[in-house]
Amino acid sequence: MIPDGHRIAPADAAAITDAAALLRSGQLVAFPTETVYGLGADAGSEAAVAAIFEAKGRPRFNPLIVHVPDIEAAARLIQVDERARALAERFWPGPLTLVLPRRADSRLSLLVSAGLDTVAVRAPDHPVARALLEACGLPVAAPSANASGRISPTTAADVAADLGDRVAMVLDGGPCRVGIESTVLDLSGPRPVVLRPGGVPEEALIPLVGPLAASGADGGPVRSPGMLRRHYAPARPLRLNALSAQPGEALLGFGPGFEGAALNLSPTGDLIEAAANLFAMLRALDRAPGYRALAIAPIHAHGLGCAINDRLRRAATPETEDDDWNDRGPAAPCVLPSIEEEPQS
Ligand code: TXA
Ligand code: MG
Repeated sequence: MIPDGHRIAPADAAAITDAAALLRSGQLVAFPTETVYGLGADAGSEAAVAAIFEAKGRPRFNPLIVHVPDIEAAARLIQVDERARALAERFWPGPLTLVLPRRADSRLSLLVSAGLDTVAVRAPDHPVARALLEACGLPVAAPSANASGRISPTTAADVAADLGDRVAMVLDGGPCRVGIESTVLDLSGPRPVVLRPGGVPEEALIPLVGPLAASGADGGPVRSPGMLRRHYAPARPLRLNALSAQPGEALLGFGPGFEGAALNLSPTGDLIEAAANLFAMLRALDRAPGYRALAIAPIHAHGLGCAINDRLRRAATPETEDDDWNDRGPAAPCVLPSIEEEPQS
């Protein structure tokens, strides 16, 4: 039992069982991994993943790492190739994250990979993380369990200080052994690329996968056009802050007053629901026959609305220098968008 007033629970068998039940019911649980504490949610639930972004107060939707027990579980989510198998054999469980194409039948949330066609997956090497994954039987999405802009937490107290009342439970498994995040290796292109240096050094990867493509300055991601193209943006032009559809436009509503819209991100104006629907609805309207463009209703610029607006702005102007989802990249400022003037009709 967790004492009243705080949610830190020593990670014994009973607490892990409780935490697994919380994850299965769509709630957030912070848990230790060997690298840093993660803020976990069911990676198959758009609403649970949206709640991660809401809890962290992230100004944008970065793709998250999906945690699995082993390569067999990973192979149900992503297209595993020979290189991935060899790396997993050598480094899993451990601080290496592999980015590979999403399987069409994975049933993973679209928000978990921020609309990308690839998914980052890793098997953590911490007894509590492993027991939790086994007990819940879910792939678990988990960014580092810090509030946006703060450093990654390596103790349960760090997590509580940052996210305290925003999580259903913090499993306390003591301080993290590695203390820095996992290495993120992108295997989705012709040449492997280290997107983030971390717990497994690059030199250790080369014998298994051959030479790595050059990473960007300061170890950040390569901003090649090829990589940017994989960041999902609708093929049809996007008009933001629209109050009604012009001819040929599919209107994506938000909140009440959009009864005539093709789809509505959240008829009640709920930002978590809107975030959960965002990528699936953009994709649906991009494919819907009979439209040449998408018109998007104004979204409140607070809470998760900031990340939604950030993503929409990037989708409206794709493949710019600014289109970088990594933690290092600057987030677009969260300002209330101006409402476009509607044509008189
Ligand atoms: O050690 C870790 O990796 C910790 C523990 C909790 O596992 N997790 C973590 O997650 O650091 P997060 O969300 O803070 O960092 C995820 C990193 C980001 O740099 C993100 O851009 C990258 O992984 N990433 C995730 N999915 C990606 C994808 N599909 N393509 C490219 N990069 C991706
Ligand atoms: Mg982080």
